[in-house]
Amino acid sequence: MRVWAIANQKGGVGKTTTTLALGRGLAMRGHRVLLVDLDPHASLTRAFGVATDPQPTGVLDLFDEQPPTLASVARSTEIENLSFVAAQTPLATLERRSATQPGLGLALSNALARGGHAWDHVLFDCPPTLGLLMVNALAAADHVIIPTQTEPLALHGLKGMCRTAEMIQRSRHRELPVSILPTLYDKRTRTGADTLKAMQDEYGERVWNDAIPNDTRICSVDVLTRSSPAAAYPGRGLSAYRRALDWLLLTEARDTEQAA
Ligand SMILES: Nc1ncnc2c1ncn2[C@@H]1O[C@H](COP(=O)(O)OP(=O)(O)OP(=O)(O)O)[C@@H](O)[C@H]1O
Ligand SMILES: [Mg+2]
Repeated sequence: MRVWAIANQKGGVGKTTTTLALGRGLAMRGHRVLLVDLDPHASLTRAFGVATDPQPTGVLDLFDEQPPTLASVARSTEIENLSFVAAQTPLATLERRSATQPGLGLALSNALARGGHAWDHVLFDCPPTLGLLMVNALAAADHVIIPTQTEPLALHGLKGMCRTAEMIQRSRHRELPVSILPTLYDKRTRTGADTLKAMQDEYGERVWNDAIPNDTRICSVDVLTRSSPAAAYPGRGLSAYRRALDWLLLTEARDTEQAA
């Protein structure tokens, strides 16, 4: 099992879109994939057509004192090999509970240790805030993927997110490799190209040397959540995500080889 946290403290950078696109891509290549929606806004959950009122079973239950198994809160999707765990709105209140309930920071690591082996890949769609949920995801992750909008202000957020990943790496005494995925790229603007270059200059090979383009077709509701063959959506966005997945898998194989 490989655990990927899709994270950035900045909002609206393409985290949920990336989680869906990479998860779908992995599942279509035959991997057993579990997506976990950690955002109280539940965008990923809604993308699969699950309402948050009444409250569905989902991630919050994994923070109970006697939590259920991952398999019992996972839902299958129309896409073969792809399941997900829904987010619930009260996830936003979890932070307060951490004062009285010790050990909440490792709730997701514990859930994976108990039942994660049922999947080849687990992808966490993180909320855009540095709090208990993101810390849980980073503590459990083998690899952090940071979608970063190709605009100058995003560089600041990227720096903050890399610092957070380093902090978690130090506290858990285990490598936490980071990969940076430039998103929402508009090649017609000078700003996009300049920001991409600035990212590559600063972070070198940790940055994908390509970018996910702006492509509104990828946002149409069911492109990423239905099983229709990818060929039915000849969008630039989706094909860029396929190339990004190739790069991430190669990067991960190289990191694993170096660590051995
Ligand atoms: N490649 C793309 N081209 C065009 N629009 C995109 C692309 N990727 C994402 N979007 C759109 O940009 C918006 C933000 O994307 P998304 O929800 O994936 O970001 P996020 O980082 O998860 O946001 P949040 O921080 O709110 O959770 C959405 O409306 C999404 O449909
Ligand atoms: Mg999101």
